[in-house]
Amino acid sequence: MTKTIGIAIFEAARQLSIAGIDSSQLDARVLMSSVLKVVPYQASLIADKCLTKAQLEEFSKIIQRRLRRVPVSHILGYRDFFEHRFIVTPDVLDPRPETELLVVEALKESFQNVLDLGTGSGCILLSLLAKKTNVQGVGIDNSAAAISIARRNAKNLHLESRVRLNVSDWFSNVGKQKFDLIVSNPPYIHPNQLELLSPEVLQEPMLALTDNEDGLNAFKEIATNAQKFMVAGGRLIFEIGFDQGPEVVEILNISGFQDIRVLPDLNGSDRIVSCCSK
Ligand SMILES: C[S@@+](CC[C@H](N)C(=O)[O-])C[C@H]1O[C@@H](n2cnc3c(N)ncnc32)[C@H](O)[C@@H]1O
Repeated sequence: MTKTIGIAIFEAARQLSIAGIDSSQLDARVLMSSVLKVVPYQASLIADKCLTKAQLEEFSKIIQRRLRRVPVSHILGYRDFFEHRFIVTPDVLDPRPETELLVVEALKESFQNVLDLGTGSGCILLSLLAKKTNVQGVGIDNSAAAISIARRNAKNLHLESRVRLNVSDWFSNVGKQKFDLIVSNPPYIHPNQLELLSPEVLQEPMLALTDNEDGLNAFKEIATNAQKFMVAGGRLIFEIGFDQGPEVVEILNISGFQDIRVLPDLNGSDRIVSCCSK
């Protein structure tokens, strides 16, 4: 049986919606475009064309995976973040749009070198290096699997010569270098909030989501040690949870940071904290 692209998208979106997936329309269109190997808006432009039998079978298989709540990025194998496409697997956090704000904030001032703590796919660090062609970077993560994905992303973006990617428990394997910029989007979800997360988010590495304590451990650990790895007046920029602004500001104050600023995301929630070393 043959079907037009438009009807296949419509039927798939309805199935996804009945299964409780909020982004049903978008997901059906994006997943169809991956089968057709076109950019998503083109799938709509050719909605009247018929799918081949092979395309219809492939699309049905993909929709079945999505109905089992496999994240779109895991089905596609990538996520578009800031200005580039990053390989994403279940070993790394799926880069979030709000994290792009951290990249934007970091780019507001110049820097010569940057350390990314908990680099995951490498999306923050590699976005910065791609934009600043004279900058060197170090990315660490305590997941060896994540570091190997970050290395693949560095290679795809031709940034290998300017980046060092190491397995490290925060600063334990960073070396002796001092940085003028440190960035981090650490695991900050309070364990009590895990039950509120969608089935898709719960398929991401637990190590990337929570410290299994109070969601603040990484901020404390990083703030306590960061100044030893920073030049005077260097910047530290964190992504934080929407309700963590006051606590993270206090942690940074206790560790002697200056010019502490909390910045909102596009929903108006606290999302980024920026400060300077003494
Ligand atoms: C929220 S994810 C952020 C990933 C990526 N930077 C992003 O923004 O998409 C946090 C990352 O911190 C890493 N991580 C957790 N605990 C760590 C530790 N003790 N030392 C180093 N990295 C850690 C996790 O493996 C995960 O990749």
